[in-house]
Amino acid sequence: AEGEAAPVGHDLWEDIAEVLIPEDQLQKRIQELGETITEDYRGRDLVVVGILKGAALFTADLFRWIRVPASLDFMRIVSYAGTRTTGVHRVLLDLEYELDGRDVLVVEDIVDTGLTLRFLRDYLLPRNPASLRVAALLDKPSRRQVDVPIDYRGFEIPDRFVVGMGLDFNEKYRNLRAICVLRPEVYAAAGQE
Ligand code: XMP
Ligand code: MG
Repeated sequence: AEGEAAPVGHDLWEDIAEVLIPEDQLQKRIQELGETITEDYRGRDLVVVGILKGAALFTADLFRWIRVPASLDFMRIVSYAGTRTTGVHRVLLDLEYELDGRDVLVVEDIVDTGLTLRFLRDYLLPRNPASLRVAALLDKPSRRQVDVPIDYRGFEIPDRFVVGMGLDFNEKYRNLRAICVLRPEVYAAAGQE
Protein backbone atom coordinates (compact mmCIF):
# COMPACT_ATOMS: atom_id res chain seq x y z
CA ALA A 1 0.00 0.00 0.00
CA GLU A 2 1.27 3.42 -0.97
CA GLY A 3 2.97 5.43 1.76
CA GLU A 4 2.43 2.76 4.40
CA ALA A 5 5.07 0.78 6.20
CA ALA A 6 5.26 -2.86 5.14
CA PRO A 7 3.20 -5.06 7.47
CA VAL A 8 4.96 -7.76 9.44
CA GLY A 9 5.19 -10.95 7.42
CA HIS A 10 4.81 -8.97 4.20
CA ASP A 11 6.04 -10.97 1.18
CA LEU A 12 9.05 -9.44 -0.58
CA TRP A 13 7.69 -10.50 -3.95
CA GLU A 14 4.75 -8.08 -3.58
CA ASP A 15 7.21 -5.20 -4.05
CA ILE A 16 8.66 -6.46 -7.33
CA ALA A 17 7.70 -4.93 -10.66
CA GLU A 18 9.92 -7.05 -12.87
CA VAL A 19 12.39 -9.90 -12.76
CA LEU A 20 15.38 -8.84 -14.87
CA ILE A 21 17.48 -11.98 -14.40
CA PRO A 22 15.88 -15.13 -12.98
CA GLU A 23 17.64 -17.37 -10.50
CA ASP A 24 18.44 -20.20 -12.94
CA GLN A 25 20.16 -17.81 -15.36
CA LEU A 26 22.17 -16.26 -12.53
CA GLN A 27 23.34 -19.62 -11.24
CA LYS A 28 24.22 -20.93 -14.71
CA ARG A 29 26.29 -17.83 -15.48
CA ILE A 30 28.04 -17.95 -12.08
CA GLN A 31 29.04 -21.55 -12.76
CA GLU A 32 30.46 -20.53 -16.17
CA LEU A 33 32.44 -17.69 -14.59
CA GLY A 34 33.81 -20.05 -11.94
CA GLU A 35 34.91 -22.53 -14.58
CA THR A 36 36.62 -19.81 -16.62
CA ILE A 37 38.40 -18.49 -13.52
CA THR A 38 39.48 -22.05 -12.67
CA GLU A 39 41.04 -22.43 -16.15
CA ASP A 40 42.73 -19.02 -16.01
CA TYR A 41 44.33 -19.59 -12.60
CA ARG A 42 45.25 -23.25 -12.99
CA GLY A 43 48.50 -23.99 -11.11
CA ARG A 44 48.26 -20.77 -9.08
CA ASP A 45 46.92 -19.77 -5.67
CA LEU A 46 44.22 -17.17 -5.54
CA VAL A 47 43.04 -14.61 -3.01
CA VAL A 48 39.35 -13.90 -3.57
CA VAL A 49 38.25 -10.56 -2.11
CA GLY A 50 34.50 -10.10 -1.75
CA ILE A 51 33.23 -6.55 -1.37
CA LEU A 52 30.64 -6.37 1.41
CA LYS A 53 27.85 -6.26 1.66
CA GLY A 54 26.48 -6.28 -1.88
CA ALA A 55 28.81 -8.94 -3.29
CA ALA A 56 28.58 -11.32 -0.30
CA LEU A 57 26.07 -13.65 -1.95
CA PHE A 58 27.66 -13.61 -5.42
CA THR A 59 31.07 -14.20 -3.79
CA ALA A 60 29.77 -17.24 -1.90
CA ASP A 61 28.26 -18.78 -5.05
CA LEU A 62 31.23 -17.98 -7.31
CA PHE A 63 33.80 -19.14 -4.75
CA ARG A 64 32.30 -22.65 -4.72
CA TRP A 65 32.84 -22.97 -8.50
CA ILE A 66 36.52 -21.98 -8.27
CA ARG A 67 38.57 -25.16 -8.21
CA VAL A 68 42.09 -23.90 -7.62
CA PRO A 69 43.44 -23.40 -4.09
CA ALA A 70 41.88 -20.14 -2.97
CA SER A 71 41.67 -18.05 0.20
CA LEU A 72 38.67 -15.89 0.96
CA ASP A 73 38.80 -12.40 2.39
CA PHE A 74 36.41 -9.47 2.55
CA MET A 75 36.45 -5.71 2.49
CA ARG A 76 33.63 -3.40 3.28
CA ILE A 77 33.40 -0.08 1.49
CA VAL A 78 30.59 2.42 1.70
CA SER A 79 29.72 5.10 -0.82
CA TYR A 80 26.01 4.91 -1.36
CA ALA A 81 22.85 6.35 0.18
CA GLY A 82 19.58 5.19 -1.37
CA THR A 83 19.91 5.01 -5.16
CA ARG A 84 22.47 7.79 -5.58
CA THR A 85 26.24 7.60 -5.36
CA THR A 86 27.96 10.12 -3.14
CA GLY A 87 31.29 9.54 -4.93
CA VAL A 88 32.98 9.39 -1.53
CA HIS A 89 34.34 6.05 -0.36
CA ARG A 90 35.16 4.88 3.11
CA VAL A 91 36.80 1.58 4.08
CA LEU A 92 34.81 0.15 7.00
CA LEU A 93 36.59 -3.22 6.99
CA ASP A 94 40.04 -3.87 5.56
CA LEU A 95 41.64 -7.14 4.45
CA GLU A 96 43.14 -9.65 6.83
CA TYR A 97 45.75 -10.89 4.33
CA GLU A 98 48.86 -9.28 2.87
CA LEU A 99 48.58 -9.12 -0.93
CA ASP A 100 52.28 -8.92 -1.71
CA GLY A 101 53.03 -11.32 -4.60
CA ARG A 102 49.54 -12.87 -4.55
CA ASP A 103 47.04 -13.27 -7.37
CA VAL A 104 44.00 -11.28 -6.29
CA LEU A 105 40.47 -11.46 -7.63
CA VAL A 106 38.14 -8.70 -6.44
CA VAL A 107 34.47 -9.71 -6.53
CA GLU A 108 31.88 -6.93 -6.93
CA ASP A 109 28.11 -7.03 -7.22
CA ILE A 110 27.70 -4.27 -9.80
CA VAL A 111 29.82 -1.74 -11.67
CA ASP A 112 27.87 1.44 -12.26
CA THR A 113 29.85 4.70 -12.50
CA GLY A 114 33.07 2.71 -11.98
CA LEU A 115 34.17 5.01 -9.15
CA THR A 116 34.11 2.27 -6.51
CA LEU A 117 36.24 -0.05 -8.63
CA ARG A 118 38.72 2.70 -9.38
CA PHE A 119 38.93 3.48 -5.67
CA LEU A 120 39.56 -0.22 -4.95
CA ARG A 121 42.31 -0.51 -7.56
CA ASP A 122 44.03 2.59 -6.21
CA TYR A 123 43.70 1.21 -2.70
CA LEU A 124 44.94 -2.34 -3.42
CA LEU A 125 47.60 -1.92 -6.13
CA PRO A 126 50.11 -0.26 -3.74
CA ARG A 127 50.06 -3.55 -1.76
CA ASN A 128 51.90 -5.15 -4.71
CA PRO A 129 49.73 -8.10 -5.71
CA ALA A 130 51.21 -10.28 -8.49
CA SER A 131 47.96 -9.66 -10.36
CA LEU A 132 44.68 -7.91 -9.70
CA ARG A 133 41.55 -8.86 -11.60
CA VAL A 134 37.87 -8.09 -11.15
CA ALA A 135 34.73 -10.20 -11.34
CA ALA A 136 31.42 -8.33 -11.36
CA LEU A 137 28.02 -9.98 -11.47
CA LEU A 138 26.38 -6.97 -13.14
CA ASP A 139 27.59 -4.18 -15.39
CA LYS A 140 25.69 -0.96 -16.17
CA PRO A 141 27.97 0.45 -18.90
CA SER A 142 25.57 3.30 -19.77
CA ARG A 143 26.36 4.93 -16.41
CA ARG A 144 30.15 4.71 -16.55
CA GLN A 145 32.13 7.81 -15.51
CA VAL A 146 35.60 6.25 -15.36
CA ASP A 147 37.01 3.48 -17.48
CA VAL A 148 37.75 0.39 -15.35
CA PRO A 149 38.54 -3.12 -16.59
CA ILE A 150 36.15 -5.96 -15.71
CA ASP A 151 37.81 -9.32 -16.33
CA TYR A 152 34.82 -11.56 -15.51
CA ARG A 153 31.38 -10.10 -16.10
CA GLY A 154 28.10 -11.83 -15.37
CA PHE A 155 25.50 -9.71 -17.15
CA GLU A 156 25.19 -6.32 -18.77
CA ILE A 157 22.03 -4.56 -17.61
CA PRO A 158 20.22 -1.34 -18.61
CA ASP A 159 20.17 1.76 -16.41
CA ARG A 160 17.62 0.55 -13.87
CA PHE A 161 18.07 0.37 -10.10
CA VAL A 162 18.08 -3.33 -9.27
CA VAL A 163 17.88 -5.42 -6.11
CA GLY A 164 18.33 -9.05 -5.15
CA MET A 165 21.21 -11.53 -4.97
CA GLY A 166 22.93 -9.31 -2.38
CA LEU A 167 21.92 -5.96 -3.87
CA ASP A 168 19.77 -3.82 -1.62
CA PHE A 169 17.47 -0.86 -1.53
CA ASN A 170 17.85 0.77 1.89
CA GLU A 171 19.29 -2.51 3.23
CA LYS A 172 16.36 -4.66 2.12
CA TYR A 173 15.75 -7.15 -0.72
CA ARG A 174 19.27 -8.66 -0.61
CA ASN A 175 17.67 -12.06 -0.01
CA LEU A 176 15.74 -12.15 -3.29
CA ARG A 177 17.09 -15.01 -5.41
CA ALA A 178 16.67 -13.11 -8.71
CA ILE A 179 17.80 -9.69 -9.96
CA CYS A 180 14.67 -7.53 -9.81
CA VAL A 181 13.30 -4.03 -10.27
CA LEU A 182 10.99 -2.77 -7.53
CA ARG A 183 7.61 -1.16 -8.05
CA PRO A 184 7.91 2.66 -8.30
CA GLU A 185 5.82 3.22 -5.17
CA VAL A 186 8.35 1.25 -3.11
CA TYR A 187 11.11 3.71 -4.02
CA ALA A 188 8.72 6.65 -3.59
CA ALA A 189 7.56 5.50 -0.15
CA ALA A 190 11.16 5.51 1.06
CA GLY A 191 11.56 9.12 -0.07
CA GLN A 192 13.74 8.28 -3.06
CA GLU A 193 13.15 8.98 -6.73
P1 XMP B 1 29.87 2.63 -8.79
O1 XMP B 1 28.97 3.76 -9.27
O2 XMP B 1 30.90 3.11 -7.84
O3 XMP B 1 28.84 1.75 -8.01
O4 XMP B 1 30.40 1.82 -9.94
C1 XMP B 1 29.15 0.59 -7.40
C2 XMP B 1 28.23 0.43 -6.22
O5 XMP B 1 27.02 1.15 -6.41
C3 XMP B 1 25.93 0.45 -5.90
N1 XMP B 1 24.92 0.32 -6.97
C4 XMP B 1 23.76 -0.33 -6.86
N2 XMP B 1 23.22 -0.98 -5.81
N3 XMP B 1 21.34 -1.51 -7.13
C5 XMP B 1 22.00 -1.56 -5.96
O6 XMP B 1 21.50 -2.16 -5.04
C6 XMP B 1 21.80 -0.88 -8.22
O7 XMP B 1 21.15 -0.85 -9.27
C7 XMP B 1 23.10 -0.25 -8.06
N4 XMP B 1 23.87 0.47 -8.93
C8 XMP B 1 24.99 0.78 -8.20
C9 XMP B 1 26.48 -0.85 -5.43
O8 XMP B 1 26.61 -0.78 -4.03
C10 XMP B 1 27.84 -0.99 -6.06
O9 XMP B 1 28.77 -1.68 -5.26
MG1 MG C 1 27.93 -2.30 -3.04
